[in-house]
Amino acid sequence: MLKPRAAFGYEANSAVRLGLLGCGGRGTGVATSFAKNISAQVVALADLFPDQLASGRAHFNEVNAGLGQQPISEKLLFLGPDAYKKIAGSPEVDLIQISTPPFFHVEHLGEAVARGKHVYCEKPVGIDIHQAQAALEIAKHVRSTQSVDVGFQCRNAPPIAAIAERIKAGALGKIAAASGSYNAPASTERVHAGAGADEYRLRNWLWDRALSGDILVEQNIHIIDLCNWLLGAHPLKATATGGRNILTHAGDCWDNYQVDFTYPGDVHLAFSSTQFGDYGNFDAGLRLFGALGSANVPYSGPMQITGAQAWAWQDPNAAAAEPGKFSANGAFSDNLAFADREKERTFVESITSGGVHNQIAAGVETALSCMLGRMAGYTHHEVTWEDLLAHGETYQLGMKLEQFA
Ligand SMILES: NC(=O)c1ccc[n+]([C@@H]2O[C@H](COP(=O)([O-])OP(=O)(O)OC[C@H]3O[C@@H](n4cnc5c(N)ncnc54)[C@H](O)[C@@H]3O)[C@@H](O)[C@H]2O)c1
Repeated sequence: MLKPRAAFGYEANSAVRLGLLGCGGRGTGVATSFAKNISAQVVALADLFPDQLASGRAHFNEVNAGLGQQPISEKLLFLGPDAYKKIAGSPEVDLIQISTPPFFHVEHLGEAVARGKHVYCEKPVGIDIHQAQAALEIAKHVRSTQSVDVGFQCRNAPPIAAIAERIKAGALGKIAAASGSYNAPASTERVHAGAGADEYRLRNWLWDRALSGDILVEQNIHIIDLCNWLLGAHPLKATATGGRNILTHAGDCWDNYQVDFTYPGDVHLAFSSTQFGDYGNFDAGLRLFGALGSANVPYSGPMQITGAQAWAWQDPNAAAAEPGKFSANGAFSDNLAFADREKERTFVESITSGGVHNQIAAGVETALSCMLGRMAGYTHHEVTWEDLLAHGETYQLGMKLEQFA
């Protein structure tokens, strides 16, 4: 029998070779963390736009130099609409990190899986029903030697993992209801000299329904994923309202949603989200209420259970680093501080140990849950899970990417 490292081509001290597809803010941050914290080596880059590829190259050459590694080889820099095919087909790459705008995730995932790569794919897995169903087909073709993770790093945040373990063990008793929120500053405009209308849309994809899936599917998805995970189910139906009250910039995404999701057992999640003026404040979180007590699962602030099985997360790092901010109720540091690192660690371990993951179907389930709320909001009607799946909703990109070749 071969040991997993040998079977997968990783010698004891050799790094998993990472190819980054989409050299933007999140992609660069996560790949840097993979390199610095987890010892994956960034060996290849791909992007639609030359400036993004160039800045990614400069950044990772610096990261690699700091780690005593080689700069990115010229032949492993891929540019243009077909860059995703070239990086996925590169024999020098073991792992593709997909950090492109959401509209492209499923197409890029399909290529990377077909070329036998391990994949770290950002959320959401699909922005419409058609893409979600395509992703489920792709999931069936993931080989027993391939590992595929979806970027729901919140589940790996140590304080969230700790409270989840207690909730799943029954600390709240029977759940009565949940409430969740995601209130965040709206994203700012990206201006690129000489950009035409299509390029402007691509650069400002967060404002665009087809490219992002709207704020419920692109951003609020993290909280809905936590709710699905903690309740162990997806919502059965939803009613919703919302709209675009304050945003005046280009694009068609809403700036607020209020959704009532019904889960099995008639458990309701009252969810609200807003995008507002940027004054530096941001709050997101989930609360669960049960027969034995309640749980507070915030991005930032006390992570705790009150009631019969009272518990609070005590963050040793926050206590040491910022003692003034430590309270009797728990730590006030960012609960997601180590989420990415832990997510990346478990993913790379799944590759090197051979205990591979296939998170596509779970990622699709959460994306569909968000689409359920979005469809209820857009149609002003209650939408059931069955209605959603039968709908066949398909978004069109509305441009030809070949113009960027
Ligand atoms: N998990 C999280 O907490 C989290 C946080 C932020 C963003 N994200 C996700 O990460 C992804 C990237 O977000 P970002 O903020 O880095 O965006 P970004 O705009 O900064 O980066 C996207 C990059 O993809 C490139 N690109 C666009 N279309 C492409 C194509 N067809 N082929 C190749 N490259 C293409 C762009 O040029 C850009 O460099 C999104 O899916 C977003 O939802 C996740």
